[in-house]
Amino acid sequence: MEISLIEKIDRLRQQGIDELKHVRSERDAQELKAKYVGRKGLLTHLLKEVGQLDESLRPQIGKAANEFKTFFEGSVDHFLADQRKDLLEKSLREDKVDITLPGRTVGIGAVHPITQILEDVRSFFLRLGFDVHSGPEIETDYYNFEALALPADHPARDMQDTFYLKDSVDSAGAPLLRTHTSPVQIHVMETQRPPIRMIAPGVVYRRDSDISHSPMFHQIEGLMVDRGVSMAHLKGVLTLFLKHLFGEAVRLRFRPSYFPFTEPSAEVDLTCFICEAKGCRVCKGTGWLEIGGCGMVDPVVFGFVNIDPEEFTGFAFGMGIERIAMLKYGIDNIRLFFENDVRFLKQF
Ligand code: PHE
Repeated sequence: MEISLIEKIDRLRQQGIDELKHVRSERDAQELKAKYVGRKGLLTHLLKEVGQLDESLRPQIGKAANEFKTFFEGSVDHFLADQRKDLLEKSLREDKVDITLPGRTVGIGAVHPITQILEDVRSFFLRLGFDVHSGPEIETDYYNFEALALPADHPARDMQDTFYLKDSVDSAGAPLLRTHTSPVQIHVMETQRPPIRMIAPGVVYRRDSDISHSPMFHQIEGLMVDRGVSMAHLKGVLTLFLKHLFGEAVRLRFRPSYFPFTEPSAEVDLTCFICEAKGCRVCKGTGWLEIGGCGMVDPVVFGFVNIDPEEFTGFAFGMGIERIAMLKYGIDNIRLFFENDVRFLKQF
């Protein structure tokens, strides 16, 4: 009887080893371990017979059972280790890494050309002692038009195709997207007494869209108000600025023009820096490039902000940043600035 229990354990061992030979996966191996030597496994089941044995024989059986358990667990662990090693060797053999291949490049961003010009303009005017201001992009009729001497029925309003934020037949009073940075002049003069030297770079909106016009674009506004400010100061500041942007060789021309908020008003042209004023595709053969508007602040505007026009005079100018960038880099389509195609942006 006692012999046969030992034999039974021995047979169990043989059976287990045979089964282990056919195991293919890690999971099967774990299951096999549980089946033979687990808490509810075959060995535990067999040992229930121990109770019927003579007490003196029990240690012998216990020893045999422990040996089997240790042996079998060891065999399974060995099998598992072998299998992992095989897998590793297989992957080393087959999943070769070619360390001579070039690495994958990580794309590096670039500063947008419009941002670059804005930064350049800002730092130029800061060095000249100007402050930098910004105003709201959503404006009221008062700031965008009225306080700039453009009353509701003024024909010059048609120069600026306005986006109104509410449908209304009589648009006066409805909030709108500012059509230029000039309303910032009013905000600053309302809160600051002369001397004033400021620029206001920012986004403006117009209902206009073609190869050289975008419904959203950037302008830079300039304003200087003090005693004795004249057209000569205006020309001096703009000459310094445009030489800084386009090179020492450029010269300026003021063409008489009209803006309701400046008197006199002028359009600023600079000599074409591409052909050195000889005439080319960019300046359309004229030798001149139009770059912005300017003039002396109209006394009517001073009236809106309580600055005495007998005591103070001022000049103002406004320019398109995209226009500057297009001229500077020879870009002929304004939409390129807003498509954010990295192949375009990387070039600056
Ligand atoms: N605000 C004008 C425009 O957008 C430009 C301008 C600014 C003209 C300041 C004169 C003085 O067309």
